[in-house]
Amino acid sequence: MNAITEAMDRAAAAPAPDAAEGSGRRGIGNVVLEVKNISLRFGGVKALTDISFDVREHEVRAIIGPNGAGKSSMLNCINGVYTPQEGRITFRGKTFDHMNSREVAEMGIARTFQNLALFKGMSVLDNIMSGRNLKMKTNIFQQMLRNPWASAAEREETEHREFVERIIDFLEIQAYRKTPVGRLPYGLQKRVDLGRALAMQPQVLLLDEPMAGMNVEEKQDMSRFILDVNNEYGTTIVLIEHDMGVVMDISDRVVVLDYGKKIGDGTPAEVRANPEVISAYLGTSH
Ligand SMILES: Nc1ncnc2c1ncn2[C@@H]1O[C@H](COP(=O)(O)OP(=O)(O)O)[C@@H](O)[C@H]1O
Ligand SMILES: [Mg+2]
Repeated sequence: MNAITEAMDRAAAAPAPDAAEGSGRRGIGNVVLEVKNISLRFGGVKALTDISFDVREHEVRAIIGPNGAGKSSMLNCINGVYTPQEGRITFRGKTFDHMNSREVAEMGIARTFQNLALFKGMSVLDNIMSGRNLKMKTNIFQQMLRNPWASAAEREETEHREFVERIIDFLEIQAYRKTPVGRLPYGLQKRVDLGRALAMQPQVLLLDEPMAGMNVEEKQDMSRFILDVNNEYGTTIVLIEHDMGVVMDISDRVVVLDYGKKIGDGTPAEVRANPEVISAYLGTSH
């Protein structure tokens, strides 16, 4: 079955909006991801202190806060890179505390990185294809062998290529399919990184500053792609972003961190009106 239609069917079958606070783009469902009382320390540094929040199906959930607030650390806890000393994370009813990144990815949580983690010398196509590794049943050696798995492996390879080509069309990067990623402008590299994460067909996509370092036009493009992923694939998005205008435009709910503590949680309008949030942003820490 076509994965994109499958994703669209899933989105269409989603429950009616029960959180009308968003922009009303699509139905926001039940809680899929729950972060409970997470504390993370590096030696004497308290990166996160007693953080709790939840993420609902199909929503765009932003995490904002000044530099060093603990935003990336939070995503690293969710995707199994860091193991917090306290607290737990529940994804679709399954609680995990010692999960590695691969296990988390297999559960359907993918991410992009604040500092790009692409293979610069490899083509756009191959970079996005690398995101399919998790989905491949036959390994590379089986794919090279001709008998007896060859036909199954070839069929699988073709299916993966087709899926990747659809992502490339979706992200409007057809013209650069064969270009080494390192030669692309930064904004397009970020788009390829998004494509690599999408190739994993995640249910939840964690984006760490996907628009950092972009100009206004690139930010608009990226915002549009994030909303399109959210709408067309039905993917739940957790987004770290510095540009408050972008956050206000595309997110349904916002968590605000400051010095590792949660100081706000609500709709964009609510957090913007929160005095503690205002002072964190006007303070010298920004
Ligand atoms: N691997 C690490 N080792 C030591 N300290 C870290 C590590 N990762 C993050 N920190 C510290 O945790 C705090 C939060 O960092 P980070 O999560 O990167 O913040 P943000 O993404 O909000 O800018 C900072 O004080 C940072 O120096
Ligand atoms: Mg960060």
